[in-house]
Amino acid sequence: MLTSPRLIGQNDRMNSSIKTSLPEAGETVDTLGRPLQDLRISVLDQCNFRCPYCMPETEFHADYRFLRKSERLTHDEIFRLARIAVSLGVSKLRLTGGEPLLDKRLPALVAQLAQIDGVDDLALTTNGMLLAPVARQLADAGLHRITISLDSLDAEVFQAMNGNRGAVATVLHGIAAAEAAGLGPIKINAVVQKGINDHTVLDLLEHFRGSGHIVRLIEYMDVGNRNGWRPDQVVPSKDLLKSIHAKWPLRAVGRQYAGEVARRYQYLDGKGEIGFISSVTEPFCGSCSRARLSAEGVLYTCLFAVNGTSLREPLRSGADDVQLADILRRVWLARTDRYSELRQPIRNEIPLVNKVEMYRIGG
Ligand code: GTP
Ligand code: 5AD
Ligand code: SF4
Ligand code: SF4
Repeated sequence: MLTSPRLIGQNDRMNSSIKTSLPEAGETVDTLGRPLQDLRISVLDQCNFRCPYCMPETEFHADYRFLRKSERLTHDEIFRLARIAVSLGVSKLRLTGGEPLLDKRLPALVAQLAQIDGVDDLALTTNGMLLAPVARQLADAGLHRITISLDSLDAEVFQAMNGNRGAVATVLHGIAAAEAAGLGPIKINAVVQKGINDHTVLDLLEHFRGSGHIVRLIEYMDVGNRNGWRPDQVVPSKDLLKSIHAKWPLRAVGRQYAGEVARRYQYLDGKGEIGFISSVTEPFCGSCSRARLSAEGVLYTCLFAVNGTSLREPLRSGADDVQLADILRRVWLARTDRYSELRQPIRNEIPLVNKVEMYRIGG
């Protein structure tokens, strides 16, 4: 019996596995009243960059053992879990990695996900190196929009921040291809680290002013356990805002949707919009509606989680959609996470160790 219309896509390949009724969307609210709205899906844990703040080369060398193919969720498994998440209220899907475009069949996954009724937003976060040749294919498959990580336009700084991989020109070419393919509004994410790239922020903004692309400046966070994060490496958004405003006056604009992580500002001269993601100085846990699915099928309810819940195990042991939905729903109902809000007290007590790594859940 099929009772949830959200699970019936036009080209539905999985209906046969739905055994009985699924919960009504909107019921999935955590202990702090936050609904489940977004699912970030990491398609693989590998990356062609070695950003020292995420995958330092010393550790992620040629012999590092990434997930084997058999350990990763297949596209059909991702599709199935995404549909179940949508039945519980998710309306926004974001594909991440590692670097998701290392999956050569990604457009096919996009095409599957784009068929799910109830997905209002289907986005991809990439470092842009492999984007240009596939941007059109991704758009044709039904991807709505793209976010590209680009920490600096300065060749040396760019290289230093990605472990001497890639080239700025290739990423810019990828951005242009995404624009031509209609994958806008394009967002450019830059992690700002004090003494590393903060002196190049204005150049980055200048480059994209008037382009229609939205640069978002992200406060450097203590994600994972490997980057040796220190509070003095963070450039508070309010400091950046001050220096940007002095050069190009800005005005604050409201959130575009509930739970948006970026604070938005527009240039008064009409040259577009920028955003600040200030998880360290202005945590936004209160409206956090994001779940994260790792490439090996572990569900995390916080970017800083230590533990997750394997959905791959029940999935591969024959659980039906109702059972899987029930696991997911229970996890969300029990959710208490608000790491960024607690960061200060946590740091002063016992620091969290064994946090999930960024490259496993894609930010
Ligand atoms: P939009 O859908 O365009 O608003 O993008 P998004 O901000 O949801 O996704 P994106 O991948 O561009 O996120 C930008 C960055 O913000 C991430 O890579 C993280 O660094 C940070 N971020 C996103 N979600 C969270 C969150 O729930 N908690 C924290 N602490 N940081 C987050
Ligand atoms: N702090 C803030 N942002 C980070 N990212 C990766 N590691 C960190 C960190 N420690 C960003 C990437 C990318 C997004 C997925 O997360 O640069 O834009
Ligand atoms: Fe790759 Fe992104 Fe991690 Fe850099 S931050 S190593 S681009 S996954
Ligand atoms: Fe959400 Fe955790 Fe980030 Fe807070 S720290 S906004 S709960 S992911």
